[in-house]
Amino acid sequence: MEKKSHFIKRESPQREVPAVLLVLLLVTVLLLNGLLYLYLNNFYGSSGRADTDPSLCPFGYFKLGPVKNCSPWLSCEAINKEVRKLKCVGEGAVKKVFLSEWKENKVVLSQLTNPELQEDFLHGLKMLKALQSKHVVRLLGYCEQQFTILTEYHPLGSLRGLNETLHMPKYRDLNTWHRRFMLAIDYVSIIHFLHSSPLGTLVMCDSNDLDKVLSQYLLTSDFHILVNDLDALPLVNRSAGILVKCGHRELQGEFVAPEQHWPHGEEVPFDDDLMPPYDEKTDIWKIPEVSNFFLGHVEGSDIARLHLFDIHAACKKKDPAERPSAQEVLDTYRKVLTLLIREAAMPGTREML
Ligand SMILES: Nc1ncnc2c1ncn2[C@@H]1O[C@H](COP(=O)(O)OP(=O)(O)OP(=O)(O)O)[C@@H](O)[C@H]1O
Ligand SMILES: *[C@@H]1O[C@H](CO)[C@@H](O)[C@H](O)[C@H]1NC(C)=O
Ligand SMILES: *[C@@H]1O[C@H](CO)[C@@H](O)[C@H](O)[C@H]1NC(C)=O
Repeated sequence: MEKKSHFIKRESPQREVPAVLLVLLLVTVLLLNGLLYLYLNNFYGSSGRADTDPSLCPFGYFKLGPVKNCSPWLSCEAINKEVRKLKCVGEGAVKKVFLSEWKENKVVLSQLTNPELQEDFLHGLKMLKALQSKHVVRLLGYCEQQFTILTEYHPLGSLRGLNETLHMPKYRDLNTWHRRFMLAIDYVSIIHFLHSSPLGTLVMCDSNDLDKVLSQYLLTSDFHILVNDLDALPLVNRSAGILVKCGHRELQGEFVAPEQHWPHGEEVPFDDDLMPPYDEKTDIWKIPEVSNFFLGHVEGSDIARLHLFDIHAACKKKDPAERPSAQEVLDTYRKVLTLLIREAAMPGTREML
């Protein structure tokens, strides 16, 4: 017995040291885990807007700024009486866009410019009403008789200005690969939203080149993306065999999907009646170019590009049916982001040890 207790006594101090080390190590690991969790949380939490759903207001109502109550969409009378035009901030083929003022709020009044495009304008308005959500610019009112739409104002404007915005002193700190990657995720989320919308599968047709794509989306002040221009969103219904065509003219160039090109060779002149229709996979074909624009050329962009290589190659499959769905692209983007954040967090954790 004595021998045994002696043995135990002798052994316990030897064991204590590793035990203390083990506990220390455990605490460190837990602490780092906690830090990583907080970091990731902060990262995803910064998507702020995504969590606060503006569609908390019932259909036909909106909420603006810190106001608690939902107001009904402004009518023709209210728009004419209460909205004051300040200056023109944009002009497209369909609309002229005016920064305006409504009850101390900055708002945007869009007016039809070309009477021939009435139908596009009204289609856009119908879509804006039906698709109100965290992905779509907020509708504040409209007047069909006067062809005007009232929406929330976003001072950073369309995505076309992203380069300039990210070089402004105020936003320079946001010019990082992960902020840029988040924008790509926002963009694919919107494509996914349109492809599985409450109205069915909608194709973003106003997208024949990168510049055109970028001009359809707005950058919010908290660095998220909203789709703004819904004038050209035809519906695909696969079970009913309904496909779409983006316009009635011949499309050329590498930016549009191969199935959007005239398939009958140069000898046969283009004829819209002979042009085969296609589906929403044209949007998938365009994702790599748009994402590449978002990723830009900052530290970490190329590593992100490398990780997206396979999914982007799949988006560029010639056969539309072989391309992934927007959901699959989105899932992959999210996985890659998590992976990259973990990798980026590693050097930091090593330093702390
Ligand atoms: N809510 C807004 N806040 C800030 N800028 C806006 C807003 N709405 C529109 N703009 C600016 O006005 C431009 C034109 O708007 P919009 O795309 O609605 O017009 P359009 O005539 O339908 O264009 P398109 O020629 O693409 O059909 C946008 O690209 C953007 O720069
Ligand atoms: C934005 O900047 C990148 C280089 O950083 C350039 O390749 C791209 O063409 C620019 N895009 C626009 C729309 O200005
Ligand atoms: C698609 O077509 C089917 C069959 O015609 C129809 O029942 C269904 O409602 C359509 N879906 C949409 C979203 O229009």
